[in-house]
Amino acid sequence: MSRSIFDLLAPIYGPISRVIFTNTWKNIIKRMDLKSGDKILDIGGGQGQFLDEIQKEVKDIDVYLLDDSKSMVKKASLSNRILGKACSLPLAEDSFDHILCIDALHHFQNQKESKKEMIRTLKPGGDIHILDLDKNEILTKIVCTFEFLVGEPSRFYEGEELKKYFSERGFQTSIERLNSYEFILQVKKDHSE
Ligand SMILES: C[S@@+](CC[C@H](N)C(=O)[O-])C[C@H]1O[C@@H](n2cnc3c(N)ncnc32)[C@H](O)[C@@H]1O
Repeated sequence: MSRSIFDLLAPIYGPISRVIFTNTWKNIIKRMDLKSGDKILDIGGGQGQFLDEIQKEVKDIDVYLLDDSKSMVKKASLSNRILGKACSLPLAEDSFDHILCIDALHHFQNQKESKKEMIRTLKPGGDIHILDLDKNEILTKIVCTFEFLVGEPSRFYEGEELKKYFSERGFQTSIERLNSYEFILQVKKDHSE
């Protein structure tokens, strides 16, 4: 696996993201229908801090982190840590009640296959939560330029464009703006699928 900017950022990423994102993580947890016994996968989950936060809120929850940066995964304190690519998950189909992809999809090289993998590994009746920056916002354009300059070419979506991808495939979708530049998309897989 080649080294990414996240391998370099790993030593400082944890404390910085905790300060910036704790409120966002709490906000997403409120929107999720989490129950004891649920199995959750966080794709591009970095150091697993969002999953740590979930474990504080709900007891007996089974959490899995997947990320393709060795240094980020090594920093995670969770037992189920997988070093791997979002486009080729080493996981069985229909495995997870909830799939998360937080501020990560725009970094994935093969986004088409990554979205298919989310659908494949989600259990019937389960849901996906994707948080990302809307490509049309000025802040996103600044982030995009910065990431390009540090060798991390990103591809951002318009929230509605991403929603359409899943609704065209028969999934129930809903989207909400968290603020002027971030959206959260929820995708539900029917029990019959
Ligand atoms: C901005 S960080 C977000 C981390 C975490 N979701 C959070 O909110 O703190 C993006 C993460 O995506 C991971 N990533 C990038 N491309 C990936 C890929 N193709 N497969 C899996 N993870 C990837 C990076 O290593 C990094 O940890």
